[in-house]
Amino acid sequence: MGACLYLLAFAIILAVATAGGACPASDRDALLALKAGLNEPYLGILDTWTGNDCCHNWHGISCNAETMRVADINLRGESEDPIYERAHRSGYMTGSISPAICNLTGLAVLVVADWKGISGPIPRCVTSLPSLRILDLIGNKFTGRIPPYIGRLHELTLRRQPPPPHAPRPPKQQALRPDPRRHRAAFHAEPGPAEREPAYGDHPLSFANIYRLADLDLSLNRLSGQLPDMFGKMPVLATLNLDGNLITGPIPPSLLNSGVSILNLSRNSIEGRIPDVFGPGSYFMAIDLSYNMLSGPIPKSISAAAYIGHLDLAHNQLCGPIPDGPPFDHLDADSFLGNTCLCGKPLSSC
Ligand SMILES: *[C@@H]1O[C@H](CO)[C@@H](O)[C@H](O)[C@H]1NC(C)=O
Ligand SMILES: *[C@@H]1O[C@H](CO)[C@@H](O)[C@H](O)[C@H]1NC(C)=O
Repeated sequence: MGACLYLLAFAIILAVATAGGACPASDRDALLALKAGLNEPYLGILDTWTGNDCCHNWHGISCNAETMRVADINLRGESEDPIYERAHRSGYMTGSISPAICNLTGLAVLVVADWKGISGPIPRCVTSLPSLRILDLIGNKFTGRIPPYIGRLHELTLRRQPPPPHAPRPPKQQALRPDPRRHRAAFHAEPGPAEREPAYGDHPLSFANIYRLADLDLSLNRLSGQLPDMFGKMPVLATLNLDGNLITGPIPPSLLNSGVSILNLSRNSIEGRIPDVFGPGSYFMAIDLSYNMLSGPIPKSISAAAYIGHLDLAHNQLCGPIPDGPPFDHLDADSFLGNTCLCGKPLSSC
């Protein structure tokens, strides 16, 4: 009788263990390749990435409960996780992101944020991960161009297959709580044809396979190139934060009359006039264009926008009278300081 109970208990434990499952070896290998390319000397976070089952107790890794595929990589160098309090420091990591990460075809969330020292290009293949919804890579040293020709590829992407109806949703983030201080990136990605990885060099980061992008946050890196016209034509793009990069060229007019409602392009080298295309379709919680090289007048059409909450045009080369009406009647002088020759309320009269 006793032996029977033991056997039964053993069978149950075995069944539970099997149902719980472990991550596939291919996912574990991809994570180990990611680990091999990174160096995190102070907290030992990546030291937890050991053993066969990458779904359990690997810091920042969560798996889809049904498929046991890796669904969520959530590595934040600054957060409220006690690990940082205990270490009395924020995170620091060097190295680069291995393209092997693209073998994680169940990946829905990829957050590698605020590590300050991770460099190299963002692997282009991330844009063809079939389930990827969120990509947050702020606060690193990633390089690469945002390609100017991207707009031409937009139509092509729209003809691609819709995502599978049962695509896994991102699991609840357990390892680290999200940082409430900032808006975070969310690529809403579509599967695309396999992209060729260029052999070397500072190649463009291709957004060609992505048309469901809702929030994109690549702030505080070293990305260069011009703003693709495509950003203003993406139906669900709501937040675009590219502040603190090396972006050049003009603002695409479509961006100012699109679904984007939070736009931060501050601290780049964007030039030319601010397109005079604001209209009833322009609804901005915040537009920050400060610390660029924008010239010419402030467009009058801004007053025709449906709504503009915060507007920051400081530290450019703008000139001429500040228009009347909303949103100018609720902005203070800080929004206009440091320009070539702006005048009128709230600055001194013309
Ligand atoms: C990624 O997948 C490719 C193709 O299946 C394979 O050759 C390669 O070894 C994998 N890389 C890693 C690190 O798992
Ligand atoms: C835009 O980005 C800059 C630089 O990173 C930051 O200082 C500023 O607060 C941001 N603006 C808004 C409106 O969030």
